[in-house]
Amino acid sequence: METNRRILVTGGCGFIGANFVRLILAEQPDWRVINLDKLTYAGNLQNLEGIEEGEQYRFVKADICDASAMEKLFVEEQIDYVVHFAAESHVDRSITGPAAFIQTNIVGTFTLLEAARKAWLSGDWKGNDPRFLHVSTDEVYGSLGETGMFTETTPFDPRSPYSASKASSDHLVNAYLHTYELPVLITNCSNNYGPYQFPEKLIPLVFHNSMTGKELPIYGDGKYVRDWLYVKDHCEAIVEVLVRGRIGQSYNIGGNNEKQNLEVVTLICDTLDEKIGLPASGAPRRELITFVKDRLGHDRRYAIDASFIKEQLGWEPQVTFEEGIARTVDWYLANQDWVASVIDGSYQKYYEKMYG
Ligand code: NAD
Ligand code: DAU
Repeated sequence: METNRRILVTGGCGFIGANFVRLILAEQPDWRVINLDKLTYAGNLQNLEGIEEGEQYRFVKADICDASAMEKLFVEEQIDYVVHFAAESHVDRSITGPAAFIQTNIVGTFTLLEAARKAWLSGDWKGNDPRFLHVSTDEVYGSLGETGMFTETTPFDPRSPYSASKASSDHLVNAYLHTYELPVLITNCSNNYGPYQFPEKLIPLVFHNSMTGKELPIYGDGKYVRDWLYVKDHCEAIVEVLVRGRIGQSYNIGGNNEKQNLEVVTLICDTLDEKIGLPASGAPRRELITFVKDRLGHDRRYAIDASFIKEQLGWEPQVTFEEGIARTVDWYLANQDWVASVIDGSYQKYYEKMYG
């Protein structure tokens, strides 16, 4: 592994970003992590509780769309690596309010690319083996029927404002490689789950609702398929690509773990019943499942072919779905204060508590 890298992580207070910052701080003691986050509703400083600012870590509250702040930070911190997570990430929100997705995911990524280009390609300082890793999604490839898988060469076919904004940002990143030779890498990953996921996404939502006796909303017929990956596996794949990936290459990352939504939801309910017993009503939690109106333009199936990253970098998922769900359920059970503060909104006051 490289030593003494100075790494800018955008969106490090979100779900995957926080897991990634924790992994780097634990495994790369010689790296300095600069976590830049706007702290939108999805950013939560409590996700990094216990991590002190100092030589190894700095938090910067800023918007990736702020060009002068981004340019200043590259120079001030002499950034070597960028891992770009910051985004609006929830498909349902992109359907009801697409503007923020266009702004952050497209304009924000462009702004960050410009700052990197100025710092690494036009200034006096060229960075130390600089690398810009853009974290993207399998949703750029569109929706599959019952067969087939997404490979790195599958043509883009995004179908929601979220996936279209991510596809646009992927195109911009590639344009900076071809036009300016900016040293970029892209990862396109499938659905993540694990600690610190905001309870608007399926798995933490089902956990929260089933703990509080609320309905478990299943869109449409519940037979939509996602390829689930435990978040730590994703973060480890990102480190591999960042350090050993080939500049200009996109890498698909997936769990080899396709499940229908109904299977996922019943597994969470049954795991909870087993771990903490049936609720006071005496009815198994799976009875809370309620079929509701479908998501507009709902993509039927995603499936990642992750053979290229395995072949090239030796990465493959380590955590089985059953193990990952058991770990996730244990984490949410042990961190119900975290869930409560997200639900009642008090997590948003944490910034003032820490920084005044
Ligand atoms: P998240 O919504 O949990 O976190 C996003 C973070 O970005 C938050 O901390 C938020 O405050 C920050 N942010 C948003 N707008 C910002 C801005 N303008 N400036 C600075 N910070 C801003 O997202 P996540 O689920 O952790 O996803 C992280 C990345 O990974 C996203 O780019 C997403 O597209 C991608 N991804 C997610 C998944 C998944 O299953 N969650 C799968 C594949 C790829
Ligand atoms: O595939 C990667 C993508 O996975 C990431 O790029 C996105 O950032 C991430 O949010 C996720 O998108 P999905 O739309 O697949 O995740 P979500 O958890 O919102 O939904 C998973 C599936 O469950 C999807 O088929 C919709 C369905 N669903 C979701 C919710 C919130 C329900 O049936 N009921 C629900 O209440």
